Amino acid sequence: MENLNAYLEANKERFLAELFDLLRMPSISADSKYAGDVRKTGEFIKEKLIEAGADKVELCETAGHPIVYGEKMINPDLPTVLVYGHYDVQPPDPLDLWETPPFEPTIRNEKIYARGACDDKGQMYMHVKAFESMMANEELACNVKFMIEGEEEIGSYNLETFVKNNAERLAADVIILSDTSIIANDCPSITVGLRGLSYVEVEVTGPNRDLHSGVYGGAVGNPINVLCDMIASMHDENMHITIPGFYDDVAVVSDADRKAMNEAPFSLEDYKADLEIGDVHGEKSYTTLERTSIRPTLDVNGIWGGYIGEGAKTVLPSKAYAKISMRLVPNQNSEKITEIFQKHFESIAPASVKVKVTPHHGGEPAVTPTDSVEYKAASRAYEATFGKTPIPERSGGSIPIVEMFERVLGIKSVMMGFGLDADAIHSPNESYGLFNYYKGIETIPYFFKYYAEMKA
Ligand code: BES
Ligand code: MN
Ligand code: MN
Repeated sequence: MENLNAYLEANKERFLAELFDLLRMPSISADSKYAGDVRKTGEFIKEKLIEAGADKVELCETAGHPIVYGEKMINPDLPTVLVYGHYDVQPPDPLDLWETPPFEPTIRNEKIYARGACDDKGQMYMHVKAFESMMANEELACNVKFMIEGEEEIGSYNLETFVKNNAERLAADVIILSDTSIIANDCPSITVGLRGLSYVEVEVTGPNRDLHSGVYGGAVGNPINVLCDMIASMHDENMHITIPGFYDDVAVVSDADRKAMNEAPFSLEDYKADLEIGDVHGEKSYTTLERTSIRPTLDVNGIWGGYIGEGAKTVLPSKAYAKISMRLVPNQNSEKITEIFQKHFESIAPASVKVKVTPHHGGEPAVTPTDSVEYKAASRAYEATFGKTPIPERSGGSIPIVEMFERVLGIKSVMMGFGLDADAIHSPNESYGLFNYYKGIETIPYFFKYYAEMKA
């Protein structure tokens, strides 16, 4: 692997310059104004895969944004690794909170600042550069396939159809992806669990028009007041969710697993200090690490209605809205949860309002094994480059395709993330450490090497 390290050393600046080019492209999948930029970003990845030596590279059309496919099949007797990543990014808003513009990557204190720096352009591109390095040094130890999508941040709407239609082309022994985080740069971890997601938008309608809040106030149900009451009623005093049946399918985690989970390095004091909060808040009888991994949640992501312009307008609004997400854990099912949410929300609405619930995208939770060859190969790879055995860790985020790949293709994933929680993904001033970018490029080839050896 020495030649690979020398290659990385010799090409460090170019690897970074290419990532900067990629980060300059505003591939915001949620906003149709940027559809052209999303496509150009896909084309950029396609070109880079071709330059690195991949075959059959193609921008595959879908009903939405295209998927980049490419492969290098060197020997049918070797295992095949399918690399997944996403080249789309979240909208950069609120723009005024960025210290430097989101699509003008900048280095400050050894970190790359840009939208998508960590999620997922920086992490995805490590695989392209690791592949280039293995090819250039004749060190590619497995067959490899790439599937890089442009719709992850909007729910991977068209990926399942693509996967079903291309099951043969995508056949592989394992899927690897880098779209999660490690505990710290001196404490590597491998993500072995993800939460699912059920996401709804609610609309509450009171009177048929906005009213004078003096003339009518006190006699007509104010939809914003009512919505707040309804939302507040969905947690009890122990922060338990009150929707009937919500916990029915929640898998109970054994005491031994909970104990192990809580042995991971974590400082509640640092956590509070980092977020500048006086205290944490969550479900009774669970620790912060448990609350963000093995327990489901219900959160309002946005709420609006009435007058929010400058000054004071006295109005009793006709409508109120909220976007609500529920993070799910094994063995909850997103469709079922959305359904019981809808029923419950309708049932608690007072007669003074009408309510409408519109489901958005969802996704299922996933747990991946730690006793598999795949996990062990990844664990050895981190050990080789970090000098420490990584800790298996369940994450609170969602990557719904992990469950989908297993269900549709029968292939398990290994989540080889290199980000940090401090990278502020989805937030202003998203960043990715130079250390992390290069460490990823260094670690990935070890996975290929160990995986080939262990499967032989
Ligand atoms: N990469 C993230 C998910 C993630 C981040 C997992 C950090 C673990 C640690 C992914 O791009 C993402 O943002 N997923 C969405 C869900 C999706 C359906 C929009 C999420 O978790 O909100
Ligand atoms: Mn991501
Ligand atoms: Mn994301």
